Amino acid sequence: MRSISITRPDDWHIHLRDRDYLVKTVKDVSRYFGRAIVMPNLTPPVTSIEEAKKYLERINRLLDSDSNFRPLMTLYLTEQMSDEVIREVKRSDFIHAIKLYPAGATTNSESGVRSIENVYPLLEVMEEEDVVLAIHGEVTDQNIDVFDREKVFIDNHLIKIRRTFPNLRVVFEHISTNDAATFVAESGNKIAATITAHHLLFNRNHLLAENLRAAYYCLPILKRDTHQQGLVKAATSGDSHFFLGTDSAPHPRFAKESACGCAAGAYTSHAAIELYAEVFDQAGQLKNLEAFASHNGPDFYELPRNSDQIILTKKSWEIPSHYAFGNDSLVPIRAGELVHWTVTG
Ligand code: NCD
Ligand code: ZN
Repeated sequence: MRSISITRPDDWHIHLRDRDYLVKTVKDVSRYFGRAIVMPNLTPPVTSIEEAKKYLERINRLLDSDSNFRPLMTLYLTEQMSDEVIREVKRSDFIHAIKLYPAGATTNSESGVRSIENVYPLLEVMEEEDVVLAIHGEVTDQNIDVFDREKVFIDNHLIKIRRTFPNLRVVFEHISTNDAATFVAESGNKIAATITAHHLLFNRNHLLAENLRAAYYCLPILKRDTHQQGLVKAATSGDSHFFLGTDSAPHPRFAKESACGCAAGAYTSHAAIELYAEVFDQAGQLKNLEAFASHNGPDFYELPRNSDQIILTKKSWEIPSHYAFGNDSLVPIRAGELVHWTVTG
C-alpha cells in the first residue's frame, strides 16, 4: 500500500460553532491538524478580544489533555470596530486575523460590513499594524446572479483594496472560480487564498443534477466543472499563494433539510486531509500536497511550520451516513461512501 509522510498540516479556515456542537467539531479538527483558524461567525459574532478569549477557552476545555492542537482565533469585522481593537489584536498572541463578511453574504453574516468603503479607515490600520484580513469575497447585491458574486466582488472591491492597501495581507477565503485563482496567482505575496476540499472535488452538477443535495449546498456556491478544474490546478501546482482551508461548516439536519430553506455549509472535517489527498493523487501531484497543506499557510501567516509529521496511506474507509451533532445529526460530505486515503500515523 502506498504511504506518504508530510509535515503536520493546519486548517486555515474552519467553523467550530459553539456549545454542544463543539464536542464533534473539536474532536474532528484536533485529530491530526496542528492548528486551525477559527471563524468568528457565532450568534452573536465574536467582535471583541474578551469574547475571543472566552470562545478559545470553551474550545480548549474540550481538547484531550495530551492534545497539541492549537486554535487560532479571529475577530469579526464590523463598521463599529475601533482602531484600538485592531492594535490589541496585533499585541495578542491568540488572535491571528480579522474576518470581513459582506452583510448578508452567508450564514450568520447579518452584522457584517454594509459598505466596504466604510471600513477603509480600519483596513488602513490593519495594513499599518500588519494584521491579516480574511475576506468572504462575494457581493450581496440581489440583482447579481449567485454564480457571479465572487467575480463581481473581485472587480468591484478586491482590485481596489489591493491598489489602495498594497501592504495589507489578505486571505481571499474559499475561492470558487478561475477568476479568483487567476487574481490571486497574479497578485504579489500579500494576497493568498484558501481552497476547500469540496470545491476541489465537486461542481454544481453534484449539487443540482438529479436530486437537489443539501450536503453540497455551501457558499460560495459550487460552480461549473471548468472552475473546479482550475481550482485543482491552482491548489496542486505548489504555488505558495494557495493553501488548505476546509471551510468545514456544519449545520444540524433540521437546518439543512428544512422547508424554509437549506442552510449553507458543507462538513468535511471528519475526513479533511484524506479528501485533499484524493484530489492531489488524482491530479498526479501528491508531491505538492505538503506545500499546500503544511507549508504555504504558516508561511503566509508568519507562523512556524509544524515540526512533526503525519503519515497518509492509500487505504479506503467508509464514511458513516451521519454523526451525532448536539441533539440532532450531521450529514457529512461523502456520507455512506468510501474515502480512499487514511491517516495512519
Ligand atoms: C459558512 C457557515 O455556515 O458558517 N457557510 C458556508 O456555506 N461556507 C459561512 C461561510 O464561510 O460562508
Ligand atoms: Zn467559512
